[in-house]
Amino acid sequence: MAIVYHESGRTFHLYNDTISYIMTVMQNGHLGQLYYGKRLRDREDFSHFLETCERPMTACVFETDRKFSLEHIRQEYPVFGTTDFRQPAVEVLQENGSRISDFRYQGYHTEPGKPKLLGLPATYTEDPDEAETLTVTLQDPVTGLKAELLYTIFAQGGILARSVRFCHEGKSPVWLGRAMSLCLDLPDSSYVWQQLSGCWARERHIHSRLLGPGIQAIGSMRGHSSHEHNPFVVLRRPYTDERQGEAVGISLVYSGNFRIQAEVDAHDTLRILAGIDPETFTWKLEPGEVFQTPEAVMVYTDQGLNAMSRTFHGLYQRRLARGCWRDRVRPVLINNWEATYFDFTQERLLEIASKAEECGVELFVLDDGWFGARRGEKAGLGDWQADRERLPDGIGGLAERVEALGLKFGLWIEPEMVNKDSDLYRQHPDWILSAPMRRESHGRFQYVLDFSRKEVVDNLYEQLAELLGNAKISYIKWDMNRSITECCSKGWPADRQGEIYHRYILGVYDLYERLTSQFPQVLFESCASGGGRFDPGMLYYAPQGWVSDDSDAIERLKIQYGTSLCYPISSMGAHVTESPNHQVYRNTPLHTRANVACFGTFGYELDLNKLTQKETAEIKEQISFMKQYREILQFGDFYRLKSPFEENEAAWMVVSKDQKTALVGWYRILNCVNGRYTRVRLQGLNPQYCYKNERSGLCCYGDELMSAGLITSDESAGQVPEGVEPGMDFDSRIYVLKAECPS
Ligand code: DGJ
Repeated sequence: MAIVYHESGRTFHLYNDTISYIMTVMQNGHLGQLYYGKRLRDREDFSHFLETCERPMTACVFETDRKFSLEHIRQEYPVFGTTDFRQPAVEVLQENGSRISDFRYQGYHTEPGKPKLLGLPATYTEDPDEAETLTVTLQDPVTGLKAELLYTIFAQGGILARSVRFCHEGKSPVWLGRAMSLCLDLPDSSYVWQQLSGCWARERHIHSRLLGPGIQAIGSMRGHSSHEHNPFVVLRRPYTDERQGEAVGISLVYSGNFRIQAEVDAHDTLRILAGIDPETFTWKLEPGEVFQTPEAVMVYTDQGLNAMSRTFHGLYQRRLARGCWRDRVRPVLINNWEATYFDFTQERLLEIASKAEECGVELFVLDDGWFGARRGEKAGLGDWQADRERLPDGIGGLAERVEALGLKFGLWIEPEMVNKDSDLYRQHPDWILSAPMRRESHGRFQYVLDFSRKEVVDNLYEQLAELLGNAKISYIKWDMNRSITECCSKGWPADRQGEIYHRYILGVYDLYERLTSQFPQVLFESCASGGGRFDPGMLYYAPQGWVSDDSDAIERLKIQYGTSLCYPISSMGAHVTESPNHQVYRNTPLHTRANVACFGTFGYELDLNKLTQKETAEIKEQISFMKQYREILQFGDFYRLKSPFEENEAAWMVVSKDQKTALVGWYRILNCVNGRYTRVRLQGLNPQYCYKNERSGLCCYGDELMSAGLITSDESAGQVPEGVEPGMDFDSRIYVLKAECPS
């Protein structure tokens, strides 16, 4: 890994074994983009990559040069309104009304490792040799505003992390109208754009399309990253698949309003922008003030989508998630939500916990309904003390009793919200986000606390620190169940109201930071009505997140498959729930529910007391299987094999780091009579190792399994031969493969 500056051509070359990223200072002082892709050998001069050409109808920068128009030049941080008519990365409103700016090169410095981003989640290094950071400083001569472009190249994998820091060195205030984290101008647009989109209970489905002229964008204006669009896109070549080909993944480490967009211009060049949603953002910078954008992470590979995903998984697992749970296998949990909803007593909870312990569960999680006047959705949010009528021993007492059963105790909270029927609201009605003289919209009868104000965050911190400090709480599920409306704060002046969405999320990060650092042993799981804030920003504080409120195994195939494009298995909360399922009312076999959930941080969300003896025995086996293999399931190398978006079958697998054990999850949606032969070509095995299939006893070499495939066809429908177990709809298997005789 290196960052080289060539003075003669004023060119920067950042490279490691996988990628090169090359930029130059252009004749107008702006930074131009020369190359991004597979590693190139370094050389003194890369200026031949800068393409300029004389075209009719262009506006030019210099009178002496009809070729130099920003309209056709690839840039690093393009500005608004001076010869480039594409969407800019930055827009600066000035007191005189002008929005024109001119960020010119001032200098650069490099440093080993990676600096922290103030108040924001970001990838990090533990050892300075893991990465190197380049900061290029640009300055607008008229306003005095400095833009520092930060580029961190990691030693391993094709990873480049980027962000921008604005330091205002001028004399009058300016307003950032847009301040994107990343601009990437690419020389051609021959890419398939893939996004993870959906809605509540149908999050992160993969949607793909070939890019064409104009703008293609995803984003959120909901105040959270959203169920609708995840802050992540892939650009892959049309020929790229899971196993081979070029792909670039772009992921924004942010949990608030965002936009990621691709713009294809008339000459087929491509501009990618990623950052805070410019529509819902302005930020006033007084002289001397600093603004830091969120981080955007780019991963390049020429080895296919699985390779790109594995790079993200490794980075986000080990160098984004933090704390003692980062590298630890996660406890098998039971959550009471789908078992009881709001209708529980202390005794009922203890019955659920007791049966769970008998089955091998390790952590009991008490969900919504334990605090204040919370008997349903209409009251209690904001008052984080136990409802003593329901829980006579309080949270401390209940936690003791759960621990006495042999389980750890976990608790649900939703700190950002308040019901009007709560003591907190009665004391502080002005603490909710609302617009002067306008109706206040509710979501699930709740209102959003104004986390842009420090006193509000302080209050929640005090309430929660007291709770965590006085009870044996080992786990927290942090929920967030509505989008933000009427985003105005009574704590900030009129000319700073454009900052509230971003300040809100900074407040959320601040509370997370304070609680996770004060209670480092507690495992945090993020949640927002399921997957409404399942993003890299949250992963920095909570190493796992509730993937979706849809717990149906077949729906989860698509949701978890899509999520795996960017996020590691160790981050995906996945539970076995009742059949028929509470979201889609589908009946699925118990083994399939577990076979899907075990590719995640595994748990149960049902009352195990209601199961038959046979089912209880099956659950005990599932838990012991999970305990035996969770290190590999949660921290092994993950590969997608067959897409549930394309076929009646889906498959994925994990391989241990030493390649000696592999687990293949195979799922068939509908059973087929007299169906075709089916195989799954595996990945990530050692071709030389001979793997024993623990189901069939058959031994096959890694090369056979990867090239010829694992045979999955069967005779499970039609006239099923004697001795053959008949199959069923929604069937599944986990194949355990163990290297018997490495040669
Ligand atoms: C939404 C979450 O996603 C559910 O798991 C549950 O915690 C409910 N909120 C509780 O209100």
